[in-house]
Amino acid sequence: QLPKFVRMVEVGPRDGLQNEKTMVPTAVKVELVDRLSDAGLTVVEAASFVSPKWVPQMGDSAEVLAGIARKPGVRYAALTPNLKGLEGALAARADEVAVFGAASESFSRKNINCSIAESLDRFAPVMERAKAEGVPVRGYVSCVLGCPYEGEISPGAVAEVAERLYAMGCYEISLGDTIGTGTPTRAQLMIAAVADRVPVERIAVHFHDTYGQALANILAALQMGVAVVDSSVAGLGGCPYAKGASGNVASEDVLYMLDGLGIETGVDLDRLIAAGAFISDAIGRPTASKVARARGCA
Ligand code: HMG
Ligand code: MG
Repeated sequence: QLPKFVRMVEVGPRDGLQNEKTMVPTAVKVELVDRLSDAGLTVVEAASFVSPKWVPQMGDSAEVLAGIARKPGVRYAALTPNLKGLEGALAARADEVAVFGAASESFSRKNINCSIAESLDRFAPVMERAKAEGVPVRGYVSCVLGCPYEGEISPGAVAEVAERLYAMGCYEISLGDTIGTGTPTRAQLMIAAVADRVPVERIAVHFHDTYGQALANILAALQMGVAVVDSSVAGLGGCPYAKGASGNVASEDVLYMLDGLGIETGVDLDRLIAAGAFISDAIGRPTASKVARARGCA
């Protein structure tokens, strides 16, 4: 039994662009976010309040959030690894924020410079302050199906971190196959382990398409009752810590599949393709969306 409605969480402006070496002008980011909200997406991750030394591309996050045309009913989200990040996000009026942990110790150290346990300690005051401000917090778990340093990750390790984030007050847990090595059966086993501890309605999936498995994995997740899917327009993105890693699954391709399955999303495919064409052109990179290519985008 597949869900009747799927909420698509667009992460292109953040996950997609964060690794671009050349600085993308703020105005381009603003137009991208506005085109995505105009396409009918209701959650757009538009900003990341992390150290600009670590991720220079996200250094203009406050300006991006100041420049967008906020559409009623759309939530503009931002990553916040610590209190400093949360303060930036609150000042810039992010509608929701996200903390991001990992199921792998080595990845946690490389990504946020601390152990998994330390990261949870850092998130606690973020959760508290966000709650006081009435801002919902999403929790990401990275490396749920593999780590560039540790190889396979056990479903139990993922479930442990997911449960902790949920218990801390995250309203949704996004399970990230950061390096895109997962396959459908393993994805289902991992989701089942998490769903033992976190209600399935609170689980989102976040697949990267490095090995071409993302759509198959998403379908496998839908079959388990998951109804929130992260994706990135034009398949933007990559992982600085995984050689050859490609971006998030392309939003256009996810939408085409959901439309074909008769699942509602509220998102318009033509407008989404146009948004993908806009950003691909702006950064001078061919789209990674097969649907966009089939519809004539370069
Ligand atoms: P640290 O060096 O351990 O932190 O970094 P610190 O507290 O010691 O601070 C060091 C410096 O950073 C200080 O500045 C702080 O002020 C500054 P200095 O005194 O040297 O001039 N700083 C900040 N500046 C701006 N905003 C902040 C902030 N915090 C500290 N929030 C830290 C720890 C987490 C900050 C760092 O490791 C970092 O920024 N990492 C970024 C990691 C990142 O953005 N990764 C990509 C996103 S995760 C992802 O893509 C995966 C996901 O998509 C899921 C999936 O795909 O699976 C979510
Ligand atoms: Mg990602």
